[in-house]
Amino acid sequence: MNRSLNQRLDAGIQGFKRDGVYKRLNYLDGPQAPRVTMDGRGEVIILSSNNYLGLSAEPEVVEAGKAALDRFGAGTASVRFICGTFTVHRDLERACARLVGTEASLSFVSCWNANEALPATILGPDDIILSDQLNHASIIDAIRLAKSIAKCDAVVYDHGNLDDLKAKLEAARDRKIKLVITDGVFSMEGAIANLPGLAELCRAHDALLMVDDSHATGVLGSHGRGTAEHFGMLGEVDIITSTLGKALGGAAGGFVAASATVCDYLTQRARPQLFSNALPPTVAASALASVEFLERHPERVAQLMASTRYFREGLQSLGFSPLPGETPIIPVILGDTAKAIQMSDMLLDAGVFVTGFGYPVVPKGEARVRCQISAAHTKEDLDQALDAFQRVGQRLDVI
Ligand SMILES: Cc1ncc(COP(=O)(O)O)c(C=O)c1O
Repeated sequence: MNRSLNQRLDAGIQGFKRDGVYKRLNYLDGPQAPRVTMDGRGEVIILSSNNYLGLSAEPEVVEAGKAALDRFGAGTASVRFICGTFTVHRDLERACARLVGTEASLSFVSCWNANEALPATILGPDDIILSDQLNHASIIDAIRLAKSIAKCDAVVYDHGNLDDLKAKLEAARDRKIKLVITDGVFSMEGAIANLPGLAELCRAHDALLMVDDSHATGVLGSHGRGTAEHFGMLGEVDIITSTLGKALGGAAGGFVAASATVCDYLTQRARPQLFSNALPPTVAASALASVEFLERHPERVAQLMASTRYFREGLQSLGFSPLPGETPIIPVILGDTAKAIQMSDMLLDAGVFVTGFGYPVVPKGEARVRCQISAAHTKEDLDQALDAFQRVGQRLDVI
């Protein structure tokens, strides 16, 4: 390899190690579950997975993937419009639209891909994107792409600040299409977007609302139908994107859910659809089985919420101050990045796998350990994790 590139990258890696932000990969020798076997460590409790409903190891979800492998083989071997698309993709897309309450949906190999496809494909030079300051990295990159490909404009509004958004919508009054984009649940905070306020502003300013519900699908609303269900607003969001890689089986994949026209246009023109293979059928079938499971088992969502409350209250009674909220994302703010990573390492030594996040993933001075609860965690799992938090918190002098 080119020597100067190697030297540059190596110096970067040494810097990450010096700053205590170098990421080690931990290898699991078994399915994603509340307790996993970690290579070199044995059994640990996982508190950092997006396996919110515990479906990644659910027998009917796994079986559906195996059956699809037998029925469809490994994959499409080309792009969908060139060599055919599997019926399981159509069934999955109908199920996703039904779940989140839109007319249609279109699957992608990831939600990252779905987000990148959308604005760049549907917007043009007369249009503008208004994006929440704390939106996910895939939305930030989607906007960069849309500015370069579609030549649209973009502005960022202060996180959750409707006054700021209103001022920016007023300033954009001459734009043909105004697309407001927000996460439904913000992944680093666990905060829920103010959907009623956003929808009202969008209506008043003739803007479209796009919600990335990756951390809300399967989580929010009594039936896990997402942020719109949580606020009693099913059918009122113009465009929803979401992942199949979290609550819905945890394998991979994402989708855009919107009107049939938007989905058809994306089928015609979205570059990831036109120039990249479809979701593998095994993955599509497992995701479809996950949606169907969720539709039959709303009690999983209730269990997730009950366990979330139990763990949050447990942390509080130990003296931690997790960010307030009601979602299964429970961040414990520590401030310093090195401290967050140290706490995460000590928790792992105590048998609990929970990741520490620092700058630039979260703002400077707001490094955190982000806990995520799953409906599959038992009370014993949560109690054992709380016990580890107490011991480590005392040793680090944070409680
Ligand atoms: C809000 C949000 N959007 C999109 C994504 C990307 O999802 P995927 O893993 O399907 O690409 C994530 C994943 O972390 C996310 O949190």
